Amino acid sequence: MNKKIGAKILGTGSYFPNKVLTNADLEKIVETSDEWISTRTGIKERRIAANGEYTSDLAYKASLEAIKAANIKLEEIDLVLVATITPDMFFPSTACFLQKKLGLNSVPAFDLSAACSGFVYGVATAKAFIEAGLYKNILLVGAEELSKITDWTDRNTCILFGDGAGAMILSASQQNNDILSVFLGADGSYANLLFIPGGGSINPATAKTVDEKLHSMKMQGKEVFKAAIPKMVFAAQKALELSGRKLEDIKLFIPHQANMRIIEAVAKKMNIPMERVFVNIHKTGNISSATTITALDEAIKTGRLNKGDLVELVAFGGGFTWGATVVKV
Ligand code: COA
Repeated sequence: MNKKIGAKILGTGSYFPNKVLTNADLEKIVETSDEWISTRTGIKERRIAANGEYTSDLAYKASLEAIKAANIKLEEIDLVLVATITPDMFFPSTACFLQKKLGLNSVPAFDLSAACSGFVYGVATAKAFIEAGLYKNILLVGAEELSKITDWTDRNTCILFGDGAGAMILSASQQNNDILSVFLGADGSYANLLFIPGGGSINPATAKTVDEKLHSMKMQGKEVFKAAIPKMVFAAQKALELSGRKLEDIKLFIPHQANMRIIEAVAKKMNIPMERVFVNIHKTGNISSATTITALDEAIKTGRLNKGDLVELVAFGGGFTWGATVVKV
């Protein structure tokens, strides 16, 4: 009898643009202070893509690292999946631009939009494709240039976001199943708390939508903050339950890095000591769908995670969307 096919994590990678934008730099752009940003968010600096450096470029560099870490041949990849809310263009998908840059012609490629939960949604999608026997080696990327959808005159939002990309290779295996569980959720009734109103079918681009800055992110910060904590706790508990493991079995929790106060509140509600919670928000800011995967990659590279360790990724974002996954690295 054939054993059930599982998804094995073969390797991860990440890439951040060179330019660092510090809180001190932001003090010159809007009325804010390093002290306010640090205490209210935990962010000290974020990376910003250069002119002419696109989301697919960040995705490409992160992908090369993941492919190298996975030790597979480029031609073995049979699906390219990119989670992003800052695509190179509305269409073609950023996955298609990435596929071209990698030279993977004719391999299927598409984008997935679930805002900051994008990578966790992507893990669920890749797992399902692999278990269904449709694809064997999936390149899953979370890539964002949030700097391109930021209103740099709005101090409520421009202090929070940054650019970056992370990638993972998931591969079909009869021996291993590294994705122990996934739990996803969404509630579209909160759409207007975190969104870009312009550019789609509701408000197609006109001179007026540009004047009114409808093409950049709008956010009700306090409301988002309040919703994020219980949803992240709920998702984390559900994924843990589905994995059949206990809190003590999880070596490291990687929560979405949106605000240090959210991270601490989630950890406290779940009774997880902060030593077991991964934090890199001070140097990245919120990079939406690239957050959990770049954090996971950093945790592996810096030795916070070793082969065989269990880690839980937990995310929350616009939509609202939320999700969590327990994985073995
Ligand atoms: N610098 C200085 N002052 C600022 C500021 C900034 N960058 N941004 C806002 N303020 C001011 C406000 O104008 C307000 O002043 P007032 O009291 O005179 O009106 C005061 O600081 C408090 O603002 P408030 O919005 O109540 O602050 P907050 O404690 O809720 O923090 C956020 C604001 C945005 C940091 C916080 O709500 C947050 O992180 N929300 C979640 C955002 C998020 O995670 N989004 C992505 C989800 S994936």
